[in-house]
Amino acid sequence: MIRSVVRGTGAALPRRIMKNADFEGMVETSDEWIAQRTGIRQRHIAADDETTASLGEAAARAALADAGLTPDDIDLIVLATSTPNNTFPATAVEIQDRLGMHHGFAFDMQAVCSGFVYAVTTADLYIRGGLAKRVLVIGSETFSRILDWSDRSTCVLFGDGAGALVLEAGEGGGTIADRGVLAASLRSDGTHKDKLFVDGGPSTTGTVGHLRMEGREVFKHAVGMITDVIEATFSAAGITADDLDWFVPHQANKRIIDASAKKLGIAEQKVVVTVNLHGNTSAASVPLALSVAVADGRIKKGDLVLLEAMGGGFTWGAVLVRW
Ligand code: UT7
Repeated sequence: MIRSVVRGTGAALPRRIMKNADFEGMVETSDEWIAQRTGIRQRHIAADDETTASLGEAAARAALADAGLTPDDIDLIVLATSTPNNTFPATAVEIQDRLGMHHGFAFDMQAVCSGFVYAVTTADLYIRGGLAKRVLVIGSETFSRILDWSDRSTCVLFGDGAGALVLEAGEGGGTIADRGVLAASLRSDGTHKDKLFVDGGPSTTGTVGHLRMEGREVFKHAVGMITDVIEATFSAAGITADDLDWFVPHQANKRIIDASAKKLGIAEQKVVVTVNLHGNTSAASVPLALSVAVADGRIKKGDLVLLEAMGGGFTWGAVLVRW
């Protein structure tokens, strides 16, 4: 059977690093509060010339270089983002143009923080359906542009960045020994749409709007939703937490990551944590964490890797990949 095998990874971060202490003169907060409640120590913030498209392009180029491929080898670009350069056209098309790629097709996916997990699942279906052989899956965000910088309950949590994977069609035997995407489970529930949202949009206010979040409410639901969808993925693949080599969760809050891993029985040393370095970069968080753990040699060919995310909507999901 056809499997969607990871061939390369890449990442890009804005030049400017903003430390927790840099907020202390802006809103009533402290390095101690942010670090204790979230695990975040710093985040990268995009300059005017750094956009979702430019960061996405840089991450895509890095993933292509890692794969030993060029844009000519790619059939499809799927970009997960909630902060597109423009309402339309899709920022994926702008990245396609920046890469000098004038064949194939490209589109954006909007599932907020779960966007990358949705995008990998979608790319896998295009590959297995025979519509694409090699797909660039990108998560790129500039949440700094939609933050209310006077709201301490949200502005300290998010950061900007991008990560990318190249997925390529390969042959598998149909077992979990195969390399590639092995199982996935996606969920959404719009009854929670007012707990994490942006208060503007083209069809309502005609403005971009700002991010609003009832953090405690999101927190309350997060661990249960994450663990449910992961258990569904484990059962689809016929594995347990012990079979995993690496758990690469969405990086929103270290406390949510720790509680989810504990509930699932995933050992602490198997959990990839980058929220301290990047903050919550929404759809970019999972591919950024992946690229860190691949670059430092933790994730290796043949490892069983579980990706997970949860965010606005609510949306949530998990994907199991053999590297
Ligand atoms: O990516 C999508 C998923 N998003 C998430 O997973 C976010 C989920 N939520 C969270 O991570 C946490 O709820 C937060 C980090 C947002 C907040 O942590 P918390 O432990 O739930 O704190 P809280 O909202 O219950 O607030 C505790 C106190 C409040 O003061 P009072 O009411 O107890 O007097 C807040 O006003 O902390 C206050 N507070 C702050 N204090 C200093 C809120 N933000 C700050 C701040 N600095 N930046």
